[in-house]
Parts: sequence; C-alpha cells; structure tokens
Amino acid sequence: MLVARDLLETRIEDLLSEYPFVGSFFDSQQLDLEGAGEMTLRAFLDKANTAIDDDDAQLSPEEVAVRLSEHIEQMLSFLEDDRERIRTLTLLPGTDKSGQPEGFERIDFHAGQTVCIVGPTGSGKSRLLADIEWVAQRDTPTRRAVWLNGEAPSRQWRFSPTHKLVAQLSQNMNFVMDLSVEEFLRMHAESRVVADPEPLIARIHEEANRLAGESFDKDTPITSLSGGQSRALMIADTAILSRSPIVLIDEIENAGIDRKKALELLVSEEKIVLMATHDPVRP
Ligand SMILES: Nc1ncnc2c1ncn2[C@@H]1O[C@H](COP(=O)(O)OP(=O)(O)OP(=O)(O)O)[C@@H](O)[C@H]1O
Ligand SMILES: [Mg+2]
Repeated sequence: MLVARDLLETRIEDLLSEYPFVGSFFDSQQLDLEGAGEMTLRAFLDKANTAIDDDDAQLSPEEVAVRLSEHIEQMLSFLEDDRERIRTLTLLPGTDKSGQPEGFERIDFHAGQTVCIVGPTGSGKSRLLADIEWVAQRDTPTRRAVWLNGEAPSRQWRFSPTHKLVAQLSQNMNFVMDLSVEEFLRMHAESRVVADPEPLIARIHEEANRLAGESFDKDTPITSLSGGQSRALMIADTAILSRSPIVLIDEIENAGIDRKKALELLVSEEKIVLMATHDPVRP
C-alpha cells in the first residue's frame, strides 16, 4: 500500500521513473512538470499552488497525494492484470437438474476457443454460464466447480473488481444511465486507461452499427437504443475494449443482431467465448 505522505517527500523524477504512467495524472490535474524533476512532490505542489490565485480551485498537497496514490494503485493492479492470462477454464461436474451426478469427468475450454452451448429452453444453459461467471466452487445449486489454468482459482479472480474475469452479455440488458452512446463509450475507454480513446470509440460505434439491424448515431441516448442496438453496442464494446479473458453470451439470436458477425468480432486469440443458444450457429 502506498502512503500518500511518503509520496509527498519523493522527488518528481523518482516518481516518474518508478511509475512512468503518473505523467498523465499530472496532466489531468493541469499540473505542468516541466523543470520540476528535482523537486519533491510537496515542494512542487506548494509552488504550483502559490501560482494560482483562486483559493477555491486548489487542492491541498495532501489531497493531491491521496489521489495520486489511488491512481498509482489502480494502474499497478491494471498492469498486473495484463500479465495474468487465462489459458484454460475447467468445469468440474456437479449434479444435474434432477440431482443426479453429471456424466462427465471434466470439460476444458482453451483460450482462443469459441464454444456454443446448445439445448432446449430450461435445459440449464444460463445456469452453466452463471456458474462460470461466479467461478463456482461447489457453492451454487449445481455444485459444480470451475478451475482456472488447471487449478482452483485464487481469491483474486473471484472477488476482485479490478481482475474482471468475465464479460457477460446477458439475456436481458437494461441501461439506466443517462448518457449518449459516445459518452458511454468514452467513459468506458477512460476507465480502461486507454491512451487514445477517440479512434476506439469510433470503431466500436462503427462495428455496433454493422451488427445492429438498424443503425444509430453517436448522440443517441443509450436508454433509447432498441434491444438489438444495445446488444450490438455491448458486443462491439466487449470485443474492442474489454480485457476480460472470458466472454459469456446468452442468446443473441433473437435480439435482432447478426450473430455470425458478432462472433467474428468477439473471437480473438486470447479469449474464451462461450455462447448459449437454442440452435447451433449455421455456417
Ligand atoms: N444442474 C442444475 N441443478 C439445479 N438446477 C438447475 C441446473 N441446471 C439448471 N437448473 C435450473 O433450471 C432452470 C432453467 O435453467 P436455465 O435458465 O439455465 O435454462 P436455459 O437453458 O437458459 O433456458 P432458456 O433457453 O429458456 O434461456 C433454472 O432455474 C436453473 O437454475
Ligand atoms: Mg437461458
């Protein structure tokens, strides 16, 4: 854990060499680091504060240091995330709907695979996806267990919000936020700390329109998108922005979007894509 007080006594140039990404933090606070390398963070902030007349606009050095330490923590866990790859996901059997032991030993899914889960309504497709989303450890109604990379998962994967294992595109999707398509995408891109969000936003919007039956523009409030349009947006967003190594898709065929194009977009080298469907994808 970083202590804000220690950061204040650290020289700017040492901060930058230890955490190269802090430059963008100072930019976002409109603080110019030019020529400040030798100063401690505290000296630098004191100097910056005397240069601003408006008292209301200022944060105390302590407040800035707290924000900076939060930023560094977030970035470190974000970067660490990247190193941790999911190569396999293993499903170990529990019991079926009638309470009988399931007739398989284990099912392994590998990164780069796209797997369709096929079965009639009520057969347990959504339940299977939910077991994976929760990283079930014999603690769901099916008593199944999920392993990652060949072993029982560490707590980090189950409970850490920064290590998001699964991107879920569920059967029902409702937006409650009052944002335009563009604002929504920008917010997501910023939360992913993408260096240059604009081309990504444009690409997601373009791909979403390719998937949706009816196109929409970037100013549309997300709450007024149709079901098919919002799923198209979420699929394009997941494919292009999400870093979750596992993508779960529950029933997209009735949602008015092009299922084959959606899969082509989602399939990537590193991801495991599981799609529940009533009938197999026809070529
Ligand atoms: N192995 C199981 N043990 C206990 N309950 C189960 C099991 N599998 C499924 N269920 C339960 O059966 C019900 C129907 O399952 P589910 O909703 O997953 O079906 P589905 O295949 O997704 O259906 P639909 O195609 O209509 O979406 C749910 O209440 C689910 O929790
Ligand atoms: Mg279902």
